[in-house]
Amino acid sequence: MEGRPITLTLGSSNSSAASDGNQPILKVVGRSSLQGQVTVGGAKNAALVVMAGALLCPEECRIRNVPSLVDVARMGQVLSALGVKLERDGDAIAINARDINQSQAPYELVSQLRASFFVIGPLLARLGIAKVPLPGGCAIGARPVDLHVQGLRAMGAHVHIDHGIVHAYLTGSDRRLKGAKIYLDYPSVGATETLMMAATLADGETIIDNAAQEPEVVDLANFCRAMGAKIKGAGTKKLVISGVDRLHSADYSIIPDRIEAGTFLLAAAITRSELSVASIIPDHLTAVIAKLRKTGVKIVPEENNTVRVIPGPQSLATDIETLPYPGFPTDMQAPFMSLLTLSEGNSLLTETVFENRLHHVAELIRMGADIRMKGNTAVIRGVAFLSGAPVKATDLRAGAALAIAALAAEGESTIEGLQHIDRGYDRLDVKLKQLGANIERIDPQGETEPTPACKDESILLK
Ligand code: UD1
Repeated sequence: MEGRPITLTLGSSNSSAASDGNQPILKVVGRSSLQGQVTVGGAKNAALVVMAGALLCPEECRIRNVPSLVDVARMGQVLSALGVKLERDGDAIAINARDINQSQAPYELVSQLRASFFVIGPLLARLGIAKVPLPGGCAIGARPVDLHVQGLRAMGAHVHIDHGIVHAYLTGSDRRLKGAKIYLDYPSVGATETLMMAATLADGETIIDNAAQEPEVVDLANFCRAMGAKIKGAGTKKLVISGVDRLHSADYSIIPDRIEAGTFLLAAAITRSELSVASIIPDHLTAVIAKLRKTGVKIVPEENNTVRVIPGPQSLATDIETLPYPGFPTDMQAPFMSLLTLSEGNSLLTETVFENRLHHVAELIRMGADIRMKGNTAVIRGVAFLSGAPVKATDLRAGAALAIAALAAEGESTIEGLQHIDRGYDRLDVKLKQLGANIERIDPQGETEPTPACKDESILLK
């Protein structure tokens, strides 16, 4: 396959350091209305785990519709560090894991990208050994990996944690995982994916009960099936995987990103603008669309995976609780809160999936929102307007929430912490600007628009 090898360095624009005046910011002057059509890219969370899944295969796999994101570059680095060859060609990545020459993922990389922990399942299945650092906490909570570990143990792996590194290995002459019956105490997306990947090459049948049903889990299952895996029940609570001896090359296209799509639906709703959002699978957004309709927005399906968003004259309050799929996604909680701050009446928004995912509340209050916290529930009283203010993104979806709020606020907002937004949105500022938003990315290092999501990413991965 033609293309450039993925190299290993990421520059300062990816650092997680707080802004010191040298970091780029977004400057948004609110109250412009948006118009036109925006196209959604490939799903970040599906792309990351499918890249990890390619480790299962001793032949080259081609993955298409891979978004150009900092997190994708980081996953590429993790795979490279294990000896995998990667080449990017447009929106496709060729991944050849024939010669994995390392069983230990490097700490510096895993600590920056939680999803890279997911390599533990495929590494163990391919090599019989895997050493992966604990990903550690992050801005939205502690995020343990106990369910991944318990499941791997049930499949016969020895797992111990030493100096912050999870050591997993198999004994016996065949050094092969054994099929097992696993019940997940919680339908964790990551644990379901880790165990599904591990089970594809196990000896015998694995049943995962109370499995996650997210579309990204289904995408991974479809990718594994394209490589010859035997998986039934993807998208339901019960997965049945019959292990095979070996997987083969596959050419696979990633689903559209339902969270990016939902973010644009909300951008339309909050600015009271009619927009078309293309490359969207409405069935993946059932809960989000149902809640948007409650606020008075019309969502009209059109041809070719496009929907038209038509906001009503006034946004209305609604209550939301985040839940595992098909419930309302935790990744949409923060952006939806921005809309509720401007919706007539009182809304209750409860976060049940992560314990610490409400940092954007304080920033929205800086912009004039009326929000009180009661435990993990935000009590939101709709206000007539928000005011532009300097605010800081503390995590990826909080960043999207602030960008959306700034589009609707009166006056100018500046948003710090773009390294979080760049992890998961491919040129959010550029796409919004093309729709008519008054938004600029200001880079004190001297770069002006059009600025890619991450300058290193554009060099490395395009
Ligand atoms: C994935 C998504 C993330 C999304 C989340 C929930 C990726 C790369 N990230 O994260 O964007 O917000 O699903 O939809 O796909 N938990 C445990 N023990 C475990 C694993 C998880 O207690 O072993 C807990 C977590 O702390 C959290 C909850 O389960 O409270 C859900 O986490 P999980 O579904 O595993 O999310 P991720 O796979 O990390």
